[in-house]
Amino acid sequence: MCGIIGYLSTSPGVSKKIIHNLKKLEYRGYDSSGICLLKNDKFFVKKSIGEIKNLQKKLNFNDDYTCGIAHTRWATHGKVNLKNTHPHLSQDKTWAVVHNGIIENFLELTEYLKSQNISLSSETDSEIIPQLMSINKNIDNIEKLRNVTCMLRGSYAICLLHKNEQAIYIARRHSPLYIAQNKNSTMISSDPVTFGEDYEYYYALPDDCLAKVDLKDISVYDSNLKKVNIKPCEVGSFEKSAELGKYPYYAEKEINEIPKIIDGLMLNYNNVDHFKNIDKEFIKNIKKIKLIGCGTAYHACFMGAKFIQKDAEIEAHAEIASEFRYSNPLIDQETLCIFLSQSGETADTLLSLELAKKMGAKTIAIVNVPYSSIARESDIVLPLCAGMEIAVMSTKAYNAMLVVLKLLSEHLRKLNGKPMNVDISELQNVDYFKNIDKIDEITDLVLKHEKIFFIGRAEDYVTALEAGLKLKEITYINCISIPSGELKHGTLSLVDMKSLVFVIATDQTLLAKNLSSASEIKARGGKIILVTNLDVPCDMDIDYIYKFDKIDSSLSSILSVIPFQMLSYKTCVKLGYSPDKPRNLAKSVTVE
Ligand code: F6R
Repeated sequence: MCGIIGYLSTSPGVSKKIIHNLKKLEYRGYDSSGICLLKNDKFFVKKSIGEIKNLQKKLNFNDDYTCGIAHTRWATHGKVNLKNTHPHLSQDKTWAVVHNGIIENFLELTEYLKSQNISLSSETDSEIIPQLMSINKNIDNIEKLRNVTCMLRGSYAICLLHKNEQAIYIARRHSPLYIAQNKNSTMISSDPVTFGEDYEYYYALPDDCLAKVDLKDISVYDSNLKKVNIKPCEVGSFEKSAELGKYPYYAEKEINEIPKIIDGLMLNYNNVDHFKNIDKEFIKNIKKIKLIGCGTAYHACFMGAKFIQKDAEIEAHAEIASEFRYSNPLIDQETLCIFLSQSGETADTLLSLELAKKMGAKTIAIVNVPYSSIARESDIVLPLCAGMEIAVMSTKAYNAMLVVLKLLSEHLRKLNGKPMNVDISELQNVDYFKNIDKIDEITDLVLKHEKIFFIGRAEDYVTALEAGLKLKEITYINCISIPSGELKHGTLSLVDMKSLVFVIATDQTLLAKNLSSASEIKARGGKIILVTNLDVPCDMDIDYIYKFDKIDSSLSSILSVIPFQMLSYKTCVKLGYSPDKPRNLAKSVTVE
């Protein structure tokens, strides 16, 4: 979603550096961008709609500015236009702001500003921040920022410039913000991916804290204005792993990385005992497990709940984070809540984590971004080790989530005194892309049909859900994912000659039932593509069988989703859409 850069340098020409780093945040999704540079007590502001290169055209990279802030906006309050694009200035031109998040009491605060004879010039909630900062000129700026943040409800990462200072004021609540410093420069960013080139260490601004940063100092305060010490984190390979290499799109690169990532993940879990704190004592009083996430991560939760119930025989349920908080969740010290998130910043998941902690639950985070808020806030972190994921469609992180969940469910099984169900190292001997070149033909079939369905039972139903989400989000093709057994209860009425139905079948014990669903579809004129790694009776009337590699059925879901990830990618490219940045979506959803 929105991205923030703040930059101070000992040498002039900061616009080039700022734009270079703002581009590294493009993957998060945005619809406009803007920059504010400061010199001789005056702001120089440029904004543009669409890609950052439009903003770049409006700038002279040989500028003599040493200080600036910039933003990529993903519209929430107010249309996509220049007026609403950040940075926003106060009416008296003393303050400039860029802001990520949503100020929930913005209408109330707008009324307050009106009473102070300040009217807003944009439709954004963000503009109220510099306007509030411009009131009450007689107090210290850091105290003023504290007072203003106390007035705000909602979430924010704020970066502010005052016209008379070569310094940046920052604050955050539920939206990340990081600081890096070397002897020549200081950078603020909403994503440490921007620190890879120039910095060895960075700092995460703690939640509900604020700071003043300049070229020498980083002074952090809590909401009582007490100084806070923050610890540096090393800029690691994760921040540096976002190169596109030989691939045309990140989506293709990331699907192709899956085997390497799973190998690395298994090696990492062999070498580091990530489960050491999940011991008999930890699970002693656990009566039930909740797995909580959004979108693709929610599908991984759903799969994980099935793994845990089957392997560890502990009651486990998946919950959609945005629903969980409003469902009167019955959780307490005897509940283990596991939060799944690629980014580790998804607002609904983060807020669910806070609620679970408040209610006394034990918490585990399964996240990809190691420095993320969800990782920091959880009792135990199980890393996904998938490297940076740039494409909006989450692929490699999903497969990594399934592997970690399988390792966890087997670990819980062991703690319950039972022998391993499956040897997970079997994953090292499979061909993840067996028959993947056949996906092209299937893409043509998808494009020829008006109605697309994905069906399956048990774990295969979860794969059907994920397959449907992938197809929808990057090809904009409407489709339905449904448990095979539910077809007859309504949805079968939609099936006709214009229908293409993917039947996913990876469990021998459920094959006959899946094939009978296929027959019901054939009888209504629908076309069937069976996606399986089982031996199928040759007299079955199936239009197309896509076979992926054989593996123990409890691990099949890690493989069976790959042809669907590739199918969505190839269909998207054939349709001429952007696979990395689908319309209306953002990589990291940091607002509710
Ligand atoms: C789908 C997709 C989204 C995310 C969801 C959660 O491809 O990317 O559905 O899975 O927004 O994001 P994270 O995993 O970052 O919490």
